Amino acid sequence: MTEKAERPLDSTYGGASAAPPKKVTVPDVVAMKKDGRRITMMTAYDAAFARLVDRSGIDVLLVGDSAGMVVLGYTSTVPVTMDDMVRLAAAASRGASRPLLVGDMPFGSYQTGPQDALRNAARFLKEAGMDAVKIEGGRETVDTVRALVENGISVMAHVGLTPQRVSQLGGFKVQAKTARAARRLLDDAIALEDAGAFAIVLESIPAPVAREVTERLRIPTIGIGAGPDCDGQVLVLHDALGLYGEFKPKFAKRYADLGPVIVEALRRFDAEVREGTFPDAEHSFTMKESEQAILERGLRDRAAG
Ligand code: KIV
Repeated sequence: MTEKAERPLDSTYGGASAAPPKKVTVPDVVAMKKDGRRITMMTAYDAAFARLVDRSGIDVLLVGDSAGMVVLGYTSTVPVTMDDMVRLAAAASRGASRPLLVGDMPFGSYQTGPQDALRNAARFLKEAGMDAVKIEGGRETVDTVRALVENGISVMAHVGLTPQRVSQLGGFKVQAKTARAARRLLDDAIALEDAGAFAIVLESIPAPVAREVTERLRIPTIGIGAGPDCDGQVLVLHDALGLYGEFKPKFAKRYADLGPVIVEALRRFDAEVREGTFPDAEHSFTMKESEQAILERGLRDRAAG
């Protein structure tokens, strides 16, 4: 966690002489708030991108159920299943060993009560190598959060815009815009902290509300569309890298626009194959001339009868 600045981007981990980078733990993340160090979190859903997130020095890798939209192509996160999430999270954990790994509990995997939540959350730890889980919701999830934490599963809470309730909320809208709603959100956050959550995502809420929540909680707040005063920030990888078409929420800063770069690369492949310039000698395998001669002679003899 502390060595991100020094590590060159092309270094490999775990070589004979290099000490492996220190794994980020739940207590590390909690301590960052106390120490006034900002927390970074990014989503990833497969081994290739998880490896890049690991190399970037980002503290927390979230296998978000946003995968439902950016990977699986649904229009919301609601259809995502526990099996989907376990498969994606297992792939991500094979790519990343240093960041804290958090698996997002999908819709229907915890709302039916603490027992179902425990069984499903345990799958994230046992089958997918996650370190913690994330659960959307306020006071209605407090018993579930407490049950998970009491049974050894660390929980990141998530309030504000909770995308699994998108139809109930009437769309992906900013939440807690009135004093009353903001007060309710703050009470939810305090209840989740009391239940044992180690951190809380604040999504799409006014910056002043996020600041109040951040000041009043001992656990770190991680914002997405919640202004600059949270203890950390998270973005969806596909938003940050320009991999999700033209759709761009106001809060989602695009750190790279890879979509057009990828399309251009694919167009070049398409053109080079059609015109016969790929593969060239550089990208082809050869064989010994003597072996080639024997092969050709043998084939000629076989054709002659
Ligand atoms: O699913 C997700 O990616 C999330 C983040 C937006 C916090 O919940």
